[in-house]
Parts: sequence; C-alpha cells; structure tokens
Amino acid sequence: MATTTYRNGQTRAARDSYDDRILRYRLRQRIVHALLAVSFLLLLATGLAILWKPLAHLAAGGLLGTVHRVGAVLFLAVPLLYLLLDPRGAKELLVDSFHYDRDDAEWLKHMLCYALGYAVGMPPQGRLNAGQKLHHAGVVIISATIVLSGLLMWFAKGSLGANGLALTAMVHDLSMLGLTLLLAGHLYFTYVYRALSSMTTGYVLKKDARIEHAKWVEELERAGHPDHGGHNEGSSTEMDAGQLDTGQLRDRPVFGVQWTPCAALKATLLAKNQTNNKATIENQGVDSHV
Ligand code: HEM
Ligand code: HEM
Repeated sequence: MATTTYRNGQTRAARDSYDDRILRYRLRQRIVHALLAVSFLLLLATGLAILWKPLAHLAAGGLLGTVHRVGAVLFLAVPLLYLLLDPRGAKELLVDSFHYDRDDAEWLKHMLCYALGYAVGMPPQGRLNAGQKLHHAGVVIISATIVLSGLLMWFAKGSLGANGLALTAMVHDLSMLGLTLLLAGHLYFTYVYRALSSMTTGYVLKKDARIEHAKWVEELERAGHPDHGGHNEGSSTEMDAGQLDTGQLRDRPVFGVQWTPCAALKATLLAKNQTNNKATIENQGVDSHV
C-alpha cells in the first residue's frame, strides 16, 4: 500500500481501512454545521462592510443591509434545524459544552502544550475536549447576545433612542469580535489536529480519537456501538508509554519545533498515567478477589 510521508519523517498508510475509523458527526449534523459556517461568514463579511465607512451608503436598508438580514434568517434557522433534524446531537452539544469534570480542569491547565501540538499524555477527554467545550459554550452564549442585539436593531430601532441604539450596536460589535476570535481558534485547532474530516466525511481515525477523546471511545466500545469500527485494540487505560500508538497526526508539534517544556510535560504526564493505570489494574485485581 502507498504511504504518505509527513514533514517530521513519519509515514502513514495512505488509505486507512474503514474499520480504523470512527463516526464523529452524522450527516445531518454536518449539514447544520455547514449552514452555521456559511451564514456566519456571510454575516461577518456584510457586517464588516456595514462598519466600513466607504461602503456605508450600501448599508441600512441598502444591498448590504438586505444581505445581512438574509444571513441573519439563515443563522436563526441553525438551532431550529438542529433540533428538528438531529435532536440527540443538539442536546449532546448543549449538555456536553456546559459540563466540566476534573479531567477537563487538568486538561485546561496544560492547554498551551495541546495548542502547540502535544496531544499525547493529556488528561483523558470525553466526546469533546475541554477546549472544544469552552469554544462551543462561547458560541452558544455570544450567539444569543448577537441575535438579541441584531433583532433589536432590526425591529426596534425607532424605540431605542440614540443612546440605546449606540449601546445595542456596541453589544453587537463586541459579540462579533468575540465570535470572530473564537472562529480563529476553531480554525487553528482544526488545522493543527487535521480535524476537518470529522465535518466532511464525518469520520476520524480511531487511533487519533483514542488519544484525544479516550473516554468517548471507551464509552462507544462499552456500548458496542456499531460506528466505532471493528477492531478492539485495547482500551487507552491499558496503554502505557511504550505501547501507545501516537497516531502520528495527533502528536505533531506545530512548526515542527520541539517545545522543550511541553516535551518534558508529556513525559511526566505519560509516567503519571502509567502509574495510575497500574494502580487501577491492581485495585481491580483486589476487587475481583473479594
Ligand atoms: C440573527 C443574527 C443577526 C441579526 C438579526 C443582525 C442584524 C443586524 C442589523 C439590523 C444591523 C444594523 C445594520 C443595518 O441596519 O443594516 C447589523 C449590523 C451589524 N452586524 Fe449584524 N445581525 C446578526 C448577526 C450578526 C453576526 C453573526 C455578525 C458577525 C459575526 C454581525 C455583524 C454585524 C456588524 C459588524 C454590524 C455593523 C454594526 C455597526 O454598525 O456598529 N451580525 N446587524
Ligand atoms: C468556516 C469554517 C469552519 C470550519 C473549517 C469548521 C470546522 C469544524 C470541525 C472540523 C468541527 C468538528 C470538530 C470535532 O472533531 O469535534 C467543528 C465543530 C463545530 N463547529 Fe466549526 N468550523 C467552521 C466554522 C464554524 C463557525 C463559524 C462556528 C460558529 C459560529 C462553528 C461552530 C462549531 C460548533 C458549535 C461545532 C460542534 C458541532 C456539533 O457538536 O454539532 N464552526 N467545526
């Protein structure tokens, strides 16, 4: 089989077998996400053009204002469509984004190294890692403020008064800034962790998911989920530093640089995981004898 060679010299079989993949987003979820992305980019482009003085004559009731309002209707349709097409996915997104456990808190402590491409050794995560939870929660909250301020400017402009309108526009602009910063981070992590396939084909490599979302993969395997792929390669809690399949793509320091403090942290975390795993296995042994 042909192989792909990465910049760090590692190689990977060019085509991974279907069994090596795991379904992350169903088609309906991917359609909803595509609508979210398109409507958002449309609103961002037209909104920035409205803000830009040379194009001011096209705003407020002009072409830009109309296109912005079309984008707004599409943006408003996103949550309704999600609830209608895939209520389970919508509920999971809301619940997971606002629930954090101790592993999440630990993960956030080491987030900088994760951002530099060090996923191996990070505290085990569920379907969403703590960073994704923060991003998605931020999107939900700031979307509410941008929608509310936008609807006020659209339908209640006359009754806001000069100060009220200025304040509403400021909330709208700050929300735009917040969502744009979140998008920048979102795209950065999508690039660093080559995550786009989860929103195009719906699938990710199981060995990568094991590193980034160990608790989620275990959950699917325990439930005997049909989408988790055929092979049972051993749960991540049984892995130690020597056995760990780094999945190549998920352990790739950004810019090809060895970030020394992160490399040291990775070694420490892996050693700690190994000790914890040994203790868990020993405890299980004790439990099975009582
Ligand atoms: C349901 C969602 C939204 C609604 C109803 C809405 C509505 C509006 C309205 C009525 C205006 C006033 C301009 C005009 O009258 O033509 C406006 C301005 C603007 N919108 Fe939105 N909008 C929404 C979402 C967004 C999003 C998601 C962004 C960017 C990420 C955005 C960025 C902007 C910007 C930058 C302005 C210019 C504000 C200013 O002049 O200070 N909007 N929006
Ligand atoms: C424009 C290009 C965009 C790309 C390439 C992109 C990429 C992705 C990818 C790859 C995922 C899946 C990550 C995973 O494996 O869990 C994802 C999920 C998500 N993205 Fe985006 N995204 C984009 C735009 C946006 C925008 C504009 C927003 C919000 C304003 C957004 C909000 C989300 C949310 C909430 C999820 C979780 C979806 C769910 O659980 O159903 N994305 N995105």
